[in-house]
Amino acid sequence: MSKIRKVAIIGTGVIGTGWIIRCLAHNKIVFAYDKNQNLKSSLTKEIKRTWPNVKKLFNKKKLNLNNFKYSNTIYDAIKEADFIQESSTENYLLKINLMKIIGKYAKPNAIISSSSSGLLPSRIYSKCKNPYRTMIGHPFNPVYMCPGIEIVPGKKTKKIYLNKAKKFYKSLSMNPIMVKKELPGYLSDRLQEALWREALHIINEGYATTEELDRAIEDGPGIRYSLMGTFLTFHLAGGKSGMKHMLKQFGPALNLPWTKLKAPKLTKKLSNRVILGTKKQAKGKSISMLSNIRDDYLLNLLKLRKKYENKIRK
Ligand SMILES: NC(=O)c1ccc[n+]([C@@H]2O[C@H](COP(=O)([O-])OP(=O)(O)OC[C@H]3O[C@@H](n4cnc5c(N)ncnc54)[C@H](O)[C@@H]3O)[C@@H](O)[C@H]2O)c1
Repeated sequence: MSKIRKVAIIGTGVIGTGWIIRCLAHNKIVFAYDKNQNLKSSLTKEIKRTWPNVKKLFNKKKLNLNNFKYSNTIYDAIKEADFIQESSTENYLLKINLMKIIGKYAKPNAIISSSSSGLLPSRIYSKCKNPYRTMIGHPFNPVYMCPGIEIVPGKKTKKIYLNKAKKFYKSLSMNPIMVKKELPGYLSDRLQEALWREALHIINEGYATTEELDRAIEDGPGIRYSLMGTFLTFHLAGGKSGMKHMLKQFGPALNLPWTKLKAPKLTKKLSNRVILGTKKQAKGKSISMLSNIRDDYLLNLLKLRKKYENKIRK
């Protein structure tokens, strides 16, 4: 079990807030900092909104807000931390500068991890002191519910720190995937991005609405994906001979124009179609209302999945 208890979250937007909630639910002492100090009050609101579901998911009785310390300076947030989870805006220049500051103030052996969705760790940490203890810890939104985390090393990262990070994330009830070496977009976002780019092409060419495309995932591949990924799903699609028959039958389709992959240009017209289409789908419900519905669904889905995943993975 990880001995790490003091954690700093730098950047308290969507993802940073998720980390704070997950860490508090696992009895960590959390120091948080954001350059936008106005976020503090909305943060407490969000912790309270999510707590009923979080409590059920992790079997917790009480939320100990005394373990949560919002700092006025980045130095105060990181000086005592043994694990720092950077969750600021996705931008190379911003993160390179921020990591330089974090590296300067952090304890020499503190682990520094970035929530980045696809930037290369060797570049993000190019000006950070002691880069051997740095890495990516890419989570999924909502972080307080989703157990997935991709740990991606930079060229200088030492294995001992990757193993410590793995233990730490496990102590937060997460299931780490140890990515062998850095690649842009890591694993999961490369797959998501392919789906996203394809969807934008279909919208751009007027074949479907955002709602129709969402239904195409929700009622088909999506309903299976939380239990089985693409490979195991296609193994079953091959009938008795599994993947062997699947490749024989659908292998030729790889030569058909079934995907465009290169992203279409994000014109104003395309942006508007996507934004208005999604707004229509929300049917007037606010982001909080939709988040509550999603969280309640995920809670029940995760419970259901536990029952079945042991049968497959053991
Ligand atoms: N939103 C997602 O679904 C998602 C999923 C996984 C990973 N991520 C990654 O998590 C990170 C944060 O994304 P987000 O969606 O929470 O963004 P966000 O815009 O909601 O929050 C970013 C926060 O960082 C703060 N910030 C910016 N510069 C800062 C600085 N120098 N010091 C301190 N705080 C600073 C901003 O004020 C803002 O509150 C990004 O790297 C993103 O790629 C996002």
